[in-house]
Amino acid sequence: DKNDKLQILKNAIKAYPNFPEPGVTFRDIFGVFQNITALRAMKDLIVEHILFLEVDLIVGLDSRGFLFGPMICMELGKPFLPIRKKGKLPGKVVQQKYVLEYGEATFELQSDLITNGTRVLIVDDLLATGGSMSAAVQLLKSVAADVVECLVIIELTSLKGRDKIEVPLHSFLKYD
Ligand code: PRP
Ligand code: ADE
Repeated sequence: DKNDKLQILKNAIKAYPNFPEPGVTFRDIFGVFQNITALRAMKDLIVEHILFLEVDLIVGLDSRGFLFGPMICMELGKPFLPIRKKGKLPGKVVQQKYVLEYGEATFELQSDLITNGTRVLIVDDLLATGGSMSAAVQLLKSVAADVVECLVIIELTSLKGRDKIEVPLHSFLKYD
């Protein structure tokens, strides 16, 4: 059942203290992709959660969000669009600067693909300070999209990233 799947998922995610810098405990989502049972459990949990969400578009955040977006969009039968760090996307883009748990960056989105009220689900592996996710929500709002939900596998609750997100946010695993 759901709790078994959550436990299998949790067991596949290793924590690395003091990476990539002192004081940060890095939670490595790639462990899930090395364990097919855990990968299936994660996919099932995501699909069960999103099946009845009404969305037009799935947006994934550079780069670990790209692991989930296409997997989910197959299930929903909806397209995928990346938000990338600056300088990677061709054509007309909109930009948003942000800070994250260990650094700062600028996100870009190809704006011409979104129309007024496009219903978007944003996916990423992890919410830390919420800097990345809130920048993504801002970017999508700037092109008049309707962000239905933000979905992450892992939430680091002590960083209070959730407080920065003005739309519903769902996480499967919570750590301090
Ligand atoms: C990580 C992670 C999230 C973000 C979370 O990405 O995948 O996108 O940080 O941190 P925040 O909540 O404090 O913003 P990172 O920018 O390290 O890039 P990567 O996915 O390419 O490793
Ligand atoms: N991105 C930001 N903070 C992180 C953490 N603690 N573990 C993995 N990815 C992260």
